[in-house]
Amino acid sequence: MAIDIREGCFHLSTQNTSYIIGIYEGFLFHHYYGKKLIEPNLKSFKHRYQECYGHYMKTELRELSFESDSLEYPNYGRTDFKHPAIHMVGKEGHSIIDLTYREHKVMAGKYELVDLPHAYAEDGDDVESLIITLVDDTGSIEVDLFYGIYTDYDVITRATAIRNTSEGLVRVESAQSMSIQMPTSNYDLLSLCGAWARERHVYRQNLHKGSQCIESLRGASSHQFNPFMALVRPETTENLGEAYGFSLVYSGNFIGRVQVDQHDTSRITMGINPFEFCWHLQKDEVFYTPECVMTYVDKGLSGMSHNYHRFYRERLCRGTYRDKVRPIIYNNWEVTFFDFDHDQLIGLAKEAKACGMELFVLDDGWFGHRNNAAQSLGDWWVNKEKLPYGLKGLGEEINKMGLKFGLWLEPEMISPVSHLYNEKPEWCISVPRYVSSLGREQLVLDYSNPEVIDYIITIMTEILGSAPIDYVKWDMNRYITDAGSFYLEKERQKELFHRYILGLYKVLEILVARFPHILFESCAGGGGRFDPGMLYYMPQTWTSDNTDAIERIKIQYGTSLVYPPRTMGAHVSPVPNHHVNRSYSLRDREHVAMMGNFGYELNLMELTGDEKTELKEHIEKYKCHRQLLFNGDYYRLISPFENRIAAWMFVDENKEKALLFIFTLHAVNNTLPQYLHLKGLDSYSLYEADGEIYSGSQLMNSGLQVKFPKKDGGSRLVIIEKSR
Ligand code: DGJ
Repeated sequence: MAIDIREGCFHLSTQNTSYIIGIYEGFLFHHYYGKKLIEPNLKSFKHRYQECYGHYMKTELRELSFESDSLEYPNYGRTDFKHPAIHMVGKEGHSIIDLTYREHKVMAGKYELVDLPHAYAEDGDDVESLIITLVDDTGSIEVDLFYGIYTDYDVITRATAIRNTSEGLVRVESAQSMSIQMPTSNYDLLSLCGAWARERHVYRQNLHKGSQCIESLRGASSHQFNPFMALVRPETTENLGEAYGFSLVYSGNFIGRVQVDQHDTSRITMGINPFEFCWHLQKDEVFYTPECVMTYVDKGLSGMSHNYHRFYRERLCRGTYRDKVRPIIYNNWEVTFFDFDHDQLIGLAKEAKACGMELFVLDDGWFGHRNNAAQSLGDWWVNKEKLPYGLKGLGEEINKMGLKFGLWLEPEMISPVSHLYNEKPEWCISVPRYVSSLGREQLVLDYSNPEVIDYIITIMTEILGSAPIDYVKWDMNRYITDAGSFYLEKERQKELFHRYILGLYKVLEILVARFPHILFESCAGGGGRFDPGMLYYMPQTWTSDNTDAIERIKIQYGTSLVYPPRTMGAHVSPVPNHHVNRSYSLRDREHVAMMGNFGYELNLMELTGDEKTELKEHIEKYKCHRQLLFNGDYYRLISPFENRIAAWMFVDENKEKALLFIFTLHAVNNTLPQYLHLKGLDSYSLYEADGEIYSGSQLMNSGLQVKFPKKDGGSRLVIIEKSR
């Protein structure tokens, strides 16, 4: 049983973790989250108030203080001085509430979350939900705390619903998805930070007194901070030690905050960023927060990543392609940019087919007068000068070759130089009397406006139905500035950021349901919206615009902390690389790209005969390994953030075969071979690697002796197979 309720406490347990909250004097307190407790004495979770200088709720009950013990869903102003989980203003203009326990409900399966992406349960899953209702006795609001307990995944999901039960308006100024309180601050905060073309680098720093946070104010989850953080012990390594993961299923402005107080306790909250946020709740209306996916492990970072990988692969991603090996993509972007025509695309497609690729993607530039990035977003009609036979003619011809056809779209955007803008300037996000600032010469459509959304759904439905389209790259190339909506009332302007995301989710839900055969890949100037919210609709994301092999090693390694390799788009692109001007061999670039959903953006017309033969051979080799790469468990062996070399490996479910990838980022002379400690093998089986036989135990404990290539960007793939 995942939920044990006794002694005024709720003990939620998964296979290896316990989560305990308890009611005291009507209030709900957070007591524990961590390694599983066997038959805990729930009564013993006492309050820690020690009559130190502080504030308390009643003279006769001095231990009732929210300053020293944290509420499970804390509010501000009633002896709690930290940033709260909920902050709201009622009709009297103040923001004081007392949330006390009213009732709870336990249900088999997963709770429902309205209009937001969320993890789901399938028949036969050991999943239970707990919903605890808290109320403010003055009658202003009710709060439902949702807990989804996934026993076999060691995951607990959390979300919240806030209902206005007062007669007047309630303004919700902050509603976090979760809050927990750790009794110490002896942790490091680990996060994935970056920039465009440098996404999701791993950062780790000790907690210190005060607030530390990761956040986005950009209208998208962002290149800069991923909506993920982990608290790990200072001694936690890749393979050992405690780690708590918090991952927000949301694609907009978010915040993850850790507050270390005067007693060195740490409060963790995560949810929608309260900055530029305020939600108006009329009587009986409900506001739902996004979902936070939490996991705890004592098996180091790799244990945490494995929990997320399995969970996101199996219980967040959906659709036809969830469990299906993805086609090898050929994308024309880095080859032609905006400059192409039908015949040129057909020529490239023929070559792609001859090399063994499976899907031809027509990227940006096929519509309106889109000959550069400065125009035509919003004018979604085919440019007949470039494509005289239309998308249908092009797609059918490509299909006849035995390739699938895919298309690039950027439906959230509008160019000021476009027919759509001339007709509907009020459909842009902007504010009166200010000239809108630009990003990539474009503006953002106001997805809080239902009229805009209906238009986009209609036009996208027409395009996707107009040609044999099997894949869509859904791009989004700028953040939101000048956050104002002509559609929203003056008082509701601060709802824009969240309403935008709700609008986007609505559009995506309808389109993925209408076109279940289409493989959708999300993209945001590369990896600016690589988050679980988008993965709910689209099972893969373009990881970064930077396709340089060495940069990609870091980006993909960092991304793998939370996201499974099968969610990452990874292509081999031309050299010298457009971003960093470096050149590596075809094989080295292929080894890096094999980690994710594999593809090419090369000018196939310019390859020499030898290069084409090499490319063909590699694709054949890739096809032999793709099941393992797609379904196998991924292990990080050497971090490119701490070393001048890197290594990772994939092991198949039955531990029969493994693929070891080693990379030299920066070569130096006079080094010894490394003993690489492999992972995930069967200790008692014999494996063949590099022509020798070893036991799994030897490979994992003593290690495989490996010589790293003596060349910047050099790589090697070592195949490890059970010996018969
Ligand atoms: C940004 C994407 O990340 C690129 O791959 C490409 O699709 C361009 N947009 C097209 O404008």
